[in-house]
Amino acid sequence: MDLFEKTFKQSMKSSTPLLDKITYFIVKQKGKHVRPMFVFLTANLCGGITERTYRAAGLIEMIHTATLVHDDVVDDAHIRRGFFSLNALWKNKIAVLVGDYLLSKSLQLSADNDDFDFLKILSATTKEMSEGELLQIEKARRLDIDEAVYFEIIRQKTATLIAACCACGAASAGADNNLVGKMKLLGEQIGIAFQIKDDLFDYEAQSSILGKPVGIDIKEKKMTLPLIHVLSKANRSEKKWIINIMKNHNEEAQKVKELIQYVKDKGGIEYAKGKMMLYRKAAIDILNTFPDTESRASFIDLIIFTTERDK
Ligand code: IPE
Ligand code: IPE
Ligand code: MG
Ligand code: MG
Repeated sequence: MDLFEKTFKQSMKSSTPLLDKITYFIVKQKGKHVRPMFVFLTANLCGGITERTYRAAGLIEMIHTATLVHDDVVDDAHIRRGFFSLNALWKNKIAVLVGDYLLSKSLQLSADNDDFDFLKILSATTKEMSEGELLQIEKARRLDIDEAVYFEIIRQKTATLIAACCACGAASAGADNNLVGKMKLLGEQIGIAFQIKDDLFDYEAQSSILGKPVGIDIKEKKMTLPLIHVLSKANRSEKKWIINIMKNHNEEAQKVKELIQYVKDKGGIEYAKGKMMLYRKAAIDILNTFPDTESRASFIDLIIFTTERDK
């Protein structure tokens, strides 16, 4: 990871002064780097880390960064990684363009290195991520989301990128199509668990530890699994009460707090955690089909971290 961080920093450099200033800022406020870790762990499991593995890890972290920059514009979120988001500091216009720049740069890097297998995986991934975000907005506007649609949204917006980590990691180690496909499926299970955990933060976490806003999903009319579940169990008048808060009082702190408490009291958190654990188990079951090695154990550790982390 030390070597990865060095090469990643280098690849983010730009000769355009404003861009260089901003990418320097991004690299300084770095995230957890779980996606690159998944790339390396998969490569290890599928034949060994190569030079191409480093490239895949860098490309994916760059795409991830681009999508976070755009996500904060879309969600109107002003905190990211414990500091101001790009849109808070430089406004939406610049954040949109920096996100575009990082996305195109990552695709160009894969083309320049003739990594067409990565390019194929990642262009499909970024397309799906946009579709997931748009489906989410559509559902927030109509407030008619159900559990099946929730899973489709999180699969598209989050799990596809983690699936791409595992697919590219395997491909970088010289795995055949069959194995690449198996690892992609593994990444998808991990990614779904990862996003359920992220959605739970909105109900449970402390913003100061998390480094991003808490309670923002309801404000943005985003219904996530804990709320979707309690809504499906609610009677008519409870349903009316919930929808009324989501529709008309979503920006009032006191009402949002009441709704969060209601979701907790009705078991929404436990339900979502239960689902998350099912995806975590499915992922670990896939890993257990591999020989018992140190890299498999590390991989399982990272999956457990994904579902137990506090940021
Ligand atoms: C946040 O991802 C975006 C989601 C898909 C939930 P991370 O939690 O991996 O963000 P960083 O990179 O560590 O900040
Ligand atoms: C995840 O969406 C980000 C992307 C998949 C682009 P969220 O809006 O739920 O993520 P956070 O909580 O802001 O990191
Ligand atoms: Mg967001
Ligand atoms: Mg979002």
